[in-house]
Amino acid sequence: MPLPFQHLTSTKQLTRGDTDAILRVAAEMEGVLKKGGSDLLHGKILASLFYEPSTRTRLSFETAMQRLGGQVVTADGLQFSSLYKGESVEDTIKVVNQYADIIAMRHPEQGSADRAASVSAIPFINAGDGPGQHPTQALLDLYTIEKERGKIDGIHITMVGDLKFGRTVHSLSFLLGLYKDIRFTLVSPAELTMPEKVTSFYKEKKIAYTETENLEDGLDADVVYMTRVQKERFEDAAQYERLKLKYILTAQQLKGRSVTVLHPLPRVGEIALDVDPLPTAAYFRQVRNGVVLRMALLAMLLKKA
Ligand code: NCD
Repeated sequence: MPLPFQHLTSTKQLTRGDTDAILRVAAEMEGVLKKGGSDLLHGKILASLFYEPSTRTRLSFETAMQRLGGQVVTADGLQFSSLYKGESVEDTIKVVNQYADIIAMRHPEQGSADRAASVSAIPFINAGDGPGQHPTQALLDLYTIEKERGKIDGIHITMVGDLKFGRTVHSLSFLLGLYKDIRFTLVSPAELTMPEKVTSFYKEKKIAYTETENLEDGLDADVVYMTRVQKERFEDAAQYERLKLKYILTAQQLKGRSVTVLHPLPRVGEIALDVDPLPTAAYFRQVRNGVVLRMALLAMLLKKA
């Protein structure tokens, strides 16, 4: 079933009807992936433009496209691109429109995704615009929560770490705002609290949230969502060094608890390795969910599902 929009730049554009449909198609894609793929998108080309470092998001999009029988062309690394020569994002997108059927782009500037979408005649997907949004990550997080917890309505989620610069927690907050009785505990150092653009949304939607600097305060939740301190967004390297490992989740802290542990990855020490074998450590399953979720989105935006 096609989606009622052509481009995905922000989770704020989505309705509950949209997320229900996307999650349903993602669940169907599990069967397709299990069979090794299909030829649903045969003849279609994804342009994967990554002007900021990425491993899993790019590989995930490319895997999703290829599992559906489509092909991929890639531009990787700002320094090797026409953007570096001074081309505008708008011109790059108009050029890529001549090559491909759909675009996924990551770019260091907040707002670049909306600018790109505004000139694209083919579907455009934001794969991360600086500290702005990362809608496909939030959708796969949502899908993972539903799979791991059996529901989304009523969950209590604790978000931990760099809530200021972490785009995934911003996108996921807006998405969870579509569900009933969600409760947030926000754990961060005072320097990295959730920005006003998100807390004002919680207030407007009357969503309960508490802010704390103490990780222990958040472990009685259904889900704990750990994040990396976003080194690349810091102007002051010493401040990054001071804050980078303020929170480290260990198996000892999780003893006797059933809280599901998520992380968008990469982790750089925030989750101790002894958490990995726990049945509630869901961050590698979350990665696999990213593939089926992106298969669903590519197919839906190309009006093939
Ligand atoms: C996240 C991102 O790029 O925002 N990673 C990802 O997409 N898997 C989180 C991060 O880089 O910390």
